[in-house]
Amino acid sequence: MKNIDWSALGFDYFKTDINARAYYKDGAWSKLEYTDDEYINMHMSTTCLHYGLECFEGLKAFRGVDGKVRLFRADENAKRMQSSARKLCLPEPSVEMFVEACYEVVKRNIDYVPSYESGASLYLRPVLIGTKVGLGVKASHEAMFIVFCSPVGAYFKGGMKPIKVIVDRMQDRAAPRGTGDTKVGGNYGSSILSGEKAHTLGYSNVMYLDAVEHNYIEECGAANFFGIKDGKYITPKSASILPSITNKSLRTLAEDMGLQVEERPVPVSELKTFEEAGACGTAAVISPIGYIFDLDTDEKITYGNGNEVGPNCLKLYNALQDIQYGRAEDKFGWTMIVE
Ligand code: PLP
Ligand code: COI
Repeated sequence: MKNIDWSALGFDYFKTDINARAYYKDGAWSKLEYTDDEYINMHMSTTCLHYGLECFEGLKAFRGVDGKVRLFRADENAKRMQSSARKLCLPEPSVEMFVEACYEVVKRNIDYVPSYESGASLYLRPVLIGTKVGLGVKASHEAMFIVFCSPVGAYFKGGMKPIKVIVDRMQDRAAPRGTGDTKVGGNYGSSILSGEKAHTLGYSNVMYLDAVEHNYIEECGAANFFGIKDGKYITPKSASILPSITNKSLRTLAEDMGLQVEERPVPVSELKTFEEAGACGTAAVISPIGYIFDLDTDEKITYGNGNEVGPNCLKLYNALQDIQYGRAEDKFGWTMIVE
């Protein structure tokens, strides 16, 4: 293991040794290549630079209590990248190629997987870009697939401390028939302005609402939203929400621990009725929400005393991390041991 102060890591790029690459040209993917080059060389008229022909993924590997390194649900990220690629008319990496690249990148950077004791992890960032040179707005039949990794600490500073969130209708993240259900760069570009405003006002995240009525919860920053009440795990359903793999896992775990799971539209007015609320995602894991402020209606909602983690959020967080860190049996077959 590298001699790195794992506890000092934030969520940022950290140089590791090897990344994986493959190229799509003339109707076929090249074999995966492995390199220590951190740079890519591209023509200034490459379509991904102008028309947003780009999608990405995020997943993690964990050093377990038994010293084994586990990669979490890489096949799910592979399928989601395929659906993002289809929406952008980009060539799809096969599930096999995607998983192999992730596995090899973890294996070849195994010394960068943080120690078990640190609670940190290795974040993998697969990226797919359209590399056709041109000026016309059309599909790119040439592409590049990259997987690199960075050791990361907690995404939200302060770890499992409840976060403060703002409801702001200034900017929509995604339109109903747009790209919100895929992980394309454009969705993130269109959330930066409101995200910056939230940070300036002292909030961690923006609660994005549906772009038609501005009445239903969509996402909580770069994470899905869930609320808990009356023994139920409730999470928004909409065509413009990214189908989070963490949320999917939490739904399974919630059911397993006796909570009833509901996926349905969640109006903003329902926020005040939840006993607990949280944001969930690969980077965020579960970030409990302590306080929500609606900028337009002036409504303020506090969960618990605003600073404590609710019992169900904690139970779900532990159940998920127990599997990821090898403390519990992987009874759903979610992890892949990298050796
Ligand atoms: N929603 C958005 C907009 C995201 O960027 C992410 C992060 O990947 C998520 C939700 C959570 O998805 P996952 O749990 O698959 O990481
Ligand atoms: C993730 O949770 O993997 C994400 O992609 C969030 C990221 C955009 C910071």
